[in-house]
Amino acid sequence: MLNTEIKETLVLRLEDAMPLGSAEMLTKIEQGAACLRAGGTVIFPTETVYGLGAHALDPEATQKIYTAKGRPSDNPLIVHIHHRSLLEPLIKCLPEKALALMDAFWPGPLTLVFIKSDAVPLSVTGGLNTVAVRMPDHPIALALIEAAGVPVAAPSANLSGKPSPTKAAHVIADMMGRVDAIVTFGDVDYGIESTVLDVTEETPILLRPGSVTQEQIEAVIGPIDRDQTILEAFGHVAPRAPGMKYRHYAPNAKVFVVDQGMTTAVLNQHIANFEGAGDRVMVVDIADAVELGRVLFDQLRDADIHGYTVVLIRAVALEGVGLAVMNRLLKAASHQVLR
Ligand code: TXA
Ligand code: MG
Repeated sequence: MLNTEIKETLVLRLEDAMPLGSAEMLTKIEQGAACLRAGGTVIFPTETVYGLGAHALDPEATQKIYTAKGRPSDNPLIVHIHHRSLLEPLIKCLPEKALALMDAFWPGPLTLVFIKSDAVPLSVTGGLNTVAVRMPDHPIALALIEAAGVPVAAPSANLSGKPSPTKAAHVIADMMGRVDAIVTFGDVDYGIESTVLDVTEETPILLRPGSVTQEQIEAVIGPIDRDQTILEAFGHVAPRAPGMKYRHYAPNAKVFVVDQGMTTAVLNQHIANFEGAGDRVMVVDIADAVELGRVLFDQLRDADIHGYTVVLIRAVALEGVGLAVMNRLLKAASHQVLR
């Protein structure tokens, strides 16, 4: 259920051209931090996507996140920290493999799932006995969490079911009047959400692929498992990351994946068929997976803004970041692939 209460949203505009650490920037970050400390909701940029944050150890504050997003409350939140000293109080034990991954990839787009300590409310973890933690690689996110002085729970700052926000304009469009403050800082770096890895088992399990790739993780800790639902339509097996089961990233337009090897002639025939049926067709044909990841959610939002009814997006190879991009793309397309 979406709440209908309209909040007064404080917009704290930081430009990416603004010198880091300038007095204006510090003042605005302190305003956002004070809001977090007081139990309010604050949207902030990270290197992956914009996040919708609240004091992670304050159940009333984190409840506001679910209300603002219209998100089911069995879907656990990622807890963001700016320094490793904030991790220990949140978890029961720190496995050696997790430590090696933190050395290699933190701060960065890798979320680790640990057994939670009693300090972490079940309302943050969707009732699970585990907690997901990450240290974002973004100067504003790190400064905001540090200034708040508390761990910050934050899902992507989109309305539930919409593509994750990668630009300030996206969070303004989705969230004005729903949160206490929005800190803007231009576009994000990666455009797809962090890799989520469960490190509670001897062999860690990839729950959500992201910009830290399976290959990069395995180079540090050896072979890992992969949740089998990552590239499959969800049937009888429930994904282990609860958030992965929801319809996601979907614009109003119908999205189709275009097979990687499809010739231009065949693609043009598909376009003609859709247009013959009255559709307005948008084509996204970007061979580089990193670049496609960066623009994918923005393109999906653009399709609706410009009134396209069909979006055809060329598949990329399932290696490296391509796994993450194809995971998001197949979900947006409800697994419909044109060949
Ligand atoms: O890049 C990101 O991770 C962004 C930025 C804001 O940090 N955040 C983000 O959060 O994508 P969200 O809530 O949209 O996605 C979190 C994912 C969901 O699929 C959720 O189910 C999974 O992580 N997750 C969180 N806690 C978990 C846990 N304890 N066990 C398994 N999966 C968990
Ligand atoms: Mg999300």
